[in-house]
Amino acid sequence: MSEDIFKKVISHAKEYGFIFQSSEIYDGLSAVYDYAQNGVELKNNLKQYWWKSMVQLHENIVGIDSAIFMHPTTWKASGHVDAFNDPLIDNKDSKKRYRADVLIEEHCAKIETKIEKEIAKAEKRFGDAFDKEQFLATNPRVVEYQKQINTILERMGKSLDKNDLEDVKALIEELEIADPVTGSKNWTEVRQFNLMFGTKLGATAEQAMDLYLRPETAQGIFLNYLNVQKTGRMKLPFGIAQIGKAFRNEIVARQFIFRQREFEQMEMQFFVKPGTELDWYEKWKETRLKWHKSLGLGDDNYRFHDHEKLAHYANAATDIEFRFPFGFKELEGIHSRTDFDLKAHEKFSGKKLQYFDNETNESYVPYVVETSVGLDRLFLAVFSNSLREEELADGTQRVVLALPAAIAPIKAAILPLVKKDGLPELAEEIVRKLRYDFNVMYEEKDSIGKRYRRMDAIGTPFCITVDHDSLKDNTVTLRHRDTMEQKRVAISDLPAIIDAEVNIKNLFDKQ
Ligand code: GAP
Repeated sequence: MSEDIFKKVISHAKEYGFIFQSSEIYDGLSAVYDYAQNGVELKNNLKQYWWKSMVQLHENIVGIDSAIFMHPTTWKASGHVDAFNDPLIDNKDSKKRYRADVLIEEHCAKIETKIEKEIAKAEKRFGDAFDKEQFLATNPRVVEYQKQINTILERMGKSLDKNDLEDVKALIEELEIADPVTGSKNWTEVRQFNLMFGTKLGATAEQAMDLYLRPETAQGIFLNYLNVQKTGRMKLPFGIAQIGKAFRNEIVARQFIFRQREFEQMEMQFFVKPGTELDWYEKWKETRLKWHKSLGLGDDNYRFHDHEKLAHYANAATDIEFRFPFGFKELEGIHSRTDFDLKAHEKFSGKKLQYFDNETNESYVPYVVETSVGLDRLFLAVFSNSLREEELADGTQRVVLALPAAIAPIKAAILPLVKKDGLPELAEEIVRKLRYDFNVMYEEKDSIGKRYRRMDAIGTPFCITVDHDSLKDNTVTLRHRDTMEQKRVAISDLPAIIDAEVNIKNLFDKQ
């Protein structure tokens, strides 16, 4: 069922000019996508909402835009050269490649589905008297399922920590995990695979320097932290944010724009006094969840997934997960990264990266709390959640992309009823009036009904129809995307009516 929905999401994104496969005429490039004419507007609006919320509305957060190419020692210091690996496994029969940890996690997700089924059954049986927490803690079947999941994940975590890849393979065999496509259980050994893309800088092969395409934007912030702190005269606590491309040679890149090889991150590193980081971590968890909920995609579609197994640089970490069409998956990561990165860069560069605290008269390396959201995943969350097929009262169907109005690519379409009698001229005049404040579009092809449907499918909140009466009394028909209600309004009232619905302030008010 949800697989069907996901297929519809992908085909809608292509058919209506949101996302295309990269290099499609050459049969495409796997896990690389291009944002099309409507997609880029939606993506830019999401960026703008994040930037405004995180940078411009916080007095103590500033933004930067650092280069994708960075000195290669950056990645040695950050640990990416040695440890940014995924364990991969190949199926000898199907020749398909998988992430060993993902195969095991998917096995656990199947057990979790069984728990959810038990909950649904019990909810039906007990009705209002159902106490979910008590049920989870006491129902023998559910307790047993949960125990199985915990044992599997704990063993996998330990084996990966020790780099005991033989045991990861043994676990896959013991759980009788089969190739999800072919059912074969004929596996190779598990190997580590570094996810960074390499490239070269320099004119001649002998002098070329090996570089990496950055796998996260965060390191550009760490390397600039002292420059920004000094030139911006920033006092702790303060943050540095940036939006930019990141690259990872993902082993298994499925699920459309969810897992790509080239993607965009919106990250913020918050520099704090050591010892205060866990309070800030809690604060940012709450702030970021509220930000996501302000988009109006449904509060139940979010949950935290706190990490039990922490990366070597973190003392707390969580994911904000979203209910995508293929289940709850990570949308944003929030990590308390201690002073690991700055200390490592001090060590590898030989430069001091300390902050002088005027209040206590001491110098120290700040601790860092990071918020990191994938822009493409945010796009997918908004897009997939907004796509609806509706049955109308007259028995027909319509497809509507019920995007939050403030981030819709086009805010209003101006449609002359017919292509003659001076209607296109008046419609174009309205376009000229509105286009400096709103992204609007003129459209005269096809019947008015077809044009409405097309605008619904793109997510345009308003359609403005210019007819013969408009020439006489300067009024137009304003159609609302969600209610399909049509009313007659004065042309001079259009800016205020549109603004009331599409102004980005409407989202800030919900934060
Ligand atoms: N600086 C921390 C960091 O990079 P991460 O959890 O690896 O942490 C942060 O990535 C976010 O970037 C994720 O929550 C996800 O939204 C996004 N992301 C990571 N890998 C991605 C990929 N291959 N394709 C699309 N988005 C990705």
